[in-house]
Amino acid sequence: MKLWGGRFKKETHQLVNEFNSSLKFDRRLYHYDIAGSIAHAKMLARTGIISREEGEKIISGLKMVEADIEAGKIPFGNTFEDIHTLVEKHLTDKIGAVGGKLHTARSRNDQVALDMRLYLRDKIKHLQALLIHLLEVLLRLAENYLEVIMPGYTHLQRAQPVTLSHHLMAYYFMFKRDYERWEDNLKRVNVLPLGSSALAGTTFPIDREWIAAELGFDSISENSLDGVSDRDFIIEFLGVAATVIMHLSRLSEELIIWTSSEFDFIELDDAYATGSSIMPQKKNPDIAELTRGKTGRIYGHLMQILTTLKGLPLAYNKDMQEDKEGVFDTIDNLEMILQIFPEMLTTMKIKKERMEQAARKGFLNATDLADYLASKGIPFRQAHEVVGKAVLYSLEQGLELNEIPLDQWRSLFPDLSEYFSEELYDYLDIKKCVQGRSSIGGTSPSETERVIIKEKKWVEDNR
Ligand code: ARG
Repeated sequence: MKLWGGRFKKETHQLVNEFNSSLKFDRRLYHYDIAGSIAHAKMLARTGIISREEGEKIISGLKMVEADIEAGKIPFGNTFEDIHTLVEKHLTDKIGAVGGKLHTARSRNDQVALDMRLYLRDKIKHLQALLIHLLEVLLRLAENYLEVIMPGYTHLQRAQPVTLSHHLMAYYFMFKRDYERWEDNLKRVNVLPLGSSALAGTTFPIDREWIAAELGFDSISENSLDGVSDRDFIIEFLGVAATVIMHLSRLSEELIIWTSSEFDFIELDDAYATGSSIMPQKKNPDIAELTRGKTGRIYGHLMQILTTLKGLPLAYNKDMQEDKEGVFDTIDNLEMILQIFPEMLTTMKIKKERMEQAARKGFLNATDLADYLASKGIPFRQAHEVVGKAVLYSLEQGLELNEIPLDQWRSLFPDLSEYFSEELYDYLDIKKCVQGRSSIGGTSPSETERVIIKEKKWVEDNR
């Protein structure tokens, strides 16, 4: 069944029907399509464009169609061009020809734009709720691991000691910004396109303000061509999604490295790891790897919609039907990943001793020694040089800096011997190295704790 047979003499080719149909994916919009139609029918009746009785009939028919869909009574073959056609056909089956009045002052072009905005509005809120849960978990873990020292890396080379808490809080802030990005995206999603009609608006005395209020929109599109053509809100959504999965992928990469025997910093809970069909000893971080792998696919969806839109003249073009599957796939995957991650992080075993042991090897306190000498009046550049030499010496001797005895320091640097005293070993202690970095945003437990307390309040206010 088609909504446009009148002008045609022949049936469309079967393959054309199949190729043209979006039903197999846009069926998931049925609830939003019907909610939008109910609001539209109410408006048509309120404004007298259709009669009150007609409005009531249409609304009760639409509710019956929705109930039938939910009860699985409506088959979703490719017999319909899209979800809008399917709903309208079943509506007229239920209530007769009056069902045909629903589409007054409306086009599928503004209808589908409306459906996608209603759908995305709900999904963004759901994804934000999942992000909030992840943020809570990160805060809780960060609170627990305030004193757990681990190596901080640059270039994946041991650099300076940090706390695990501080490391996790870095991810907290990434995901917090993602939350805020979606919040901002919502402003552009939550704009009513309905009333743009096919492309030029309508001659009927519709009440767009009323529909906007009825459906909870913050504003109304004020150019009908733009109203039916705008998919920026989808690009933005996918842009945020691509950033979220990028952040998840970086975290995944760390989990993967940390579970390796070479690092051995964490062990994933059995419920969040998998095995090998041939190597009995294996315990693999598949979830983290698959998350890293899904990243390419979600970036792909962003590139796809950007490319789909780049050459489109105004207004609606059928190319725009391609705005959906990437969004749906992105949401399906992110919803799954964001449900798994909090528990995977909560249940993983942290090997504190291994982390701390690693932070003690590899001269992570070298900067602290240079800072110490600089604080005593030696220009930092010279202090850097001195410590560099000391590191070279330690490497040759198989020592760490704190294992060089005092008299050895003095004979290595006779000109500077007055600067070397027992105090030095205090500065080389990695706990002190961490505690000392108490500048705003630094890794010291006191500073990290201050930030955690502040952010707990933020999460509380945004839940
Ligand atoms: N299935 C279409 C889409 O998703 C609905 C709008 C179709 N409009 C049209 N005039 N063919 O974009």
